[in-house]
Amino acid sequence: MQNKLYFCTNTKMSKGLTESLSYLKDLQTLLSDLPQKDIELAVMLPFTALYPARQICLKSNILLGAQNVCQETDFSFTGEISAPMLKELNLDCVMIGHSERRRKAGETDSMINQKVLFALSENLTVFLGISETASEKQYMISDEVLRIQLKRSLYGIRAEQVPLLRILYEPAWAIGKDSSCIPPDYVGKKHNTIRSCLCELFGSDTGSSIPVIYGGSVSPSNACRLIDQPNVDGLGIGRSAWDAFTFNCLIRNVQEHVNQSTSKGDKPYAENFK
Ligand code: PGA
Repeated sequence: MQNKLYFCTNTKMSKGLTESLSYLKDLQTLLSDLPQKDIELAVMLPFTALYPARQICLKSNILLGAQNVCQETDFSFTGEISAPMLKELNLDCVMIGHSERRRKAGETDSMINQKVLFALSENLTVFLGISETASEKQYMISDEVLRIQLKRSLYGIRAEQVPLLRILYEPAWAIGKDSSCIPPDYVGKKHNTIRSCLCELFGSDTGSSIPVIYGGSVSPSNACRLIDQPNVDGLGIGRSAWDAFTFNCLIRNVQEHVNQSTSKGDKPYAENFK
């Protein structure tokens, strides 16, 4: 059970440099009262925007991150960006293993594991994407797939690195769809599976402390029903976050909903963040 709400967005290739910077500036203005002790917001921009983005977001309550990192630190990887290079930009976080990286860019669990280890060794917060495909869901092997991805991707992590971990469950079949296609109870069941696997890996105290975030067609219309699900500690949002004003409203609605919800009344979220 977390004492924070987690929100993140990955703008993919939807924004170039100019648009990324104006988006970030708008978000900073709209969310300047974001209480960091209650809400964590991470924004993953394309590599081309990261250096200037860091300059305009030096003392921000928004975590700034990359959408990917190389699995090696050796210089002989033309076209890649290593974890030390991201750290040199003074970034806060990095997304690793997004479903599109796993399936369209052919990343394996062992590559993802290397990326996670290098990123953690640079003290970057890691948003580890795990996901099943539509056919894996159809074969009813989603739990097995998620457990294997977690165990392989997190292999070798030391206990003291766990506070830097966020798990981002974004099933491939749910990304880029109509939000009405996402069954909240299915999401809740998968989050329970993920939580129990994390407890198996790290022990129940540590495993319970890792935020597990849901993503895949989250929108203003389903966000509150998704956050109500067991073990859903936050939301990862694509299209519905790419307009700063819509994202700001979504965050505030979810926050208000959680504050009012008796089922989550045990979470000490800020009462006055409206
Ligand atoms: P979506 O994207 O919210 O547009 O479905 C989610 C993602 O890929 O992170």
